[in-house]
Amino acid sequence: MKKIMGIETSCDETAVAIVTEEKELLVNLILSQQEHIAFGGVVPEVAARAHLNHIDVMIVEALKKARLIFSELDAIAVTAGPGLIGGVLVGVMTAKAIAAVHDLPLIAVNHLEGHALTVRLTEDVPFPYLLLLVSGGHCQLLIAEGVGKYKRLGTTLDDAVGEAFDKTARLLGLGYPGGPAVEMMAKNCDDSDRALKKFPLPSPMVGREGCDFSFSGLKTSVKRIVDKLPEKIDPRDAADICYSFQNSVAKILNDRTGNAIRQYLSLHPEQKSPSLVVAGGVAANKMLRNSLESLSAEYNISFIAPPLSLCTDNAAMIAWAGMERFLLGMTDPPSFPATPRWPLESLVGQG
Ligand code: KG4
Ligand code: ZN
Repeated sequence: MKKIMGIETSCDETAVAIVTEEKELLVNLILSQQEHIAFGGVVPEVAARAHLNHIDVMIVEALKKARLIFSELDAIAVTAGPGLIGGVLVGVMTAKAIAAVHDLPLIAVNHLEGHALTVRLTEDVPFPYLLLLVSGGHCQLLIAEGVGKYKRLGTTLDDAVGEAFDKTARLLGLGYPGGPAVEMMAKNCDDSDRALKKFPLPSPMVGREGCDFSFSGLKTSVKRIVDKLPEKIDPRDAADICYSFQNSVAKILNDRTGNAIRQYLSLHPEQKSPSLVVAGGVAANKMLRNSLESLSAEYNISFIAPPLSLCTDNAAMIAWAGMERFLLGMTDPPSFPATPRWPLESLVGQG
């Protein structure tokens, strides 16, 4: 049975995992760097240094936990981009060194493809599926047609949705990362009507044709509201703002995804089991998952989301994307570069 180690260092999670071709997750180590909390956001230099300090130890620990030695692995998969170049380089150089010493094939994984294929590690989801990729750096609707084969239907014209969560959290002094903090605060709102009336927020792009997104207007509106409040914000107001913000995000995601579902269904009438897959860090948000699930039910298509722990950055998704590629004979030469910008549609795929 084939086994692949995955390495992820593209942002602020240092992660190492090993998966089998039978979809067994033998080990899944994630170290979320705490160094950035004081800055309210990821500092690239600090992140790269922290990856460098931890990656070797974590690789040894992963092998120990899985009771394996390097020579029992079939390949090494590593995030080669997109991401913060210093961190990506740490992972790529480490993977190349292991591959050279132990004579293992290398697989350069696109981080976004890692998110896109995660559901196929935990469930049997057939291509083509509609993919809503929502993370700290991306907000896109794509049709996943095969490994390495993605057709983009829409993307954000300005900020990513995770960025809007993080910015809102920062404005309200809720800390970093913002997504989980905003979600938790929104749950504290005890009167949704009051929240929406007191702090009305726009839902840019809703009702327009196409599948593009825009979040900068929403972010600016939150700032305008917060600027008018006293420096020490009443926790009830903070909860109401988070509720109203999340409500706007849900409206935007549902409207845009509704348009994408219609396009997907008309492009792929042959797909007997159509599904909407949501991936990326923001997919960990339960309220957004629920509203997208209802939307899918309206169109009679399946809604599939990875388990919460596999939504935010991890190395299981990199190891699994590596496995999918490896099984199709798609390995990479040791000369492959670390690539800070690397759109999914530029991949050359199969399927
Ligand atoms: O995929 P990810 O871990 O890293 C990137 O590749 O960007 O996504 C991180 C983003 C952050 O912006 C974070 O605030 C957001 O995902 N996020 C959430 C939640 N958990 C993480 N946003 C909303 N609700 C959550 N529960
Ligand atoms: Zn990510």
